[in-house]
Amino acid sequence: MNKGASFGRRDFFKGACLAGFMVATAKLPAVAEGERPKFEVGKRGAHSRLATSYAVVDIGLEKPFSVLHISDTHLADAYPDEHPDKVAAAVRRTKGFGERQEEALAESLEWARHNVDYVIHTGDLIDFQSRANFDLVRKYWGDALFGSMGNHEFYSYLKKGGTGRGEEYKNQSWEMLKAAYPVDPRFASRIVNGVNFIAIDDVFGSVQPDQVEKFKAEARKGLPMVLCMHVPFFTPHIELASYKFWRRTGKKFVGRPDAARPLKEGSDLWNQRNDPTTAGFIAYLKDEKLLKAILSGHEHITMEERFSPTAVQYLVGGNFLFAARELLFV
Ligand SMILES: [Fe+2]
Repeated sequence: MNKGASFGRRDFFKGACLAGFMVATAKLPAVAEGERPKFEVGKRGAHSRLATSYAVVDIGLEKPFSVLHISDTHLADAYPDEHPDKVAAAVRRTKGFGERQEEALAESLEWARHNVDYVIHTGDLIDFQSRANFDLVRKYWGDALFGSMGNHEFYSYLKKGGTGRGEEYKNQSWEMLKAAYPVDPRFASRIVNGVNFIAIDDVFGSVQPDQVEKFKAEARKGLPMVLCMHVPFFTPHIELASYKFWRRTGKKFVGRPDAARPLKEGSDLWNQRNDPTTAGFIAYLKDEKLLKAILSGHEHITMEERFSPTAVQYLVGGNFLFAARELLFV
């Protein structure tokens, strides 16, 4: 037995022993908030707080590469001279997300620079439209941003009409988003080492015919494809996890079957759409052998679940919580 193998064996037994000390979480004592130790930064330097998880996407590539997938940063800034509703939202929403959104993004990108080949953001990079937020996007991403929009990219947080839903509502924002983001907010494709990354907007739970057509045109290129979009497709275990995380209010998915878990009255039924275009797209994707992975966010949890015979759907947790996932494409 070589040295490496014996180390592995010892580690295994250490793990087995630890299992004997495991207690049911229900038996853990409750500790009041003020009695818990404060977070201490370790020795990881500029990215000390980044909570990275990892996954391997096996496509059979000649040239493997890595991607940092982040989502849901929720930058929430406004300049003092912006609309008072936005200035108020900046205070309220910055506090609500833990006041560390910009740091989390900066640390993620710093880490990405040194450790992975590419970075993809799957939406809600900003919490609402403001000059200050768009300046932050430019500051941290320059021209390097690739990914999809989130529902918050379409919100202005003005008291009148500041949030909405549906295609008509989105029409107010396309030009603004095109000017602010160096990526087509509705449909974009980048080919990296022979893999076609396709970012589409699905933020209100549906896709549109022009997006489906463009996707199928990309498929005709014959390359392995990775679909990047903010709101995930319904898969049963991700939905269950989301249901717990969001305190049983029900949460947003694309193509959620009517027969799935009942939603609390008044919850987000609007983005559980299963219109013919979206349903047709899902049925097509389930059979599309070139589809190798789906990257999404929105739920603020890190999880993955098989979507089709060839593709797993990967969700990454809220970047405002310092979550990020490295995907190794091999
Ligand atoms: Fe979202």
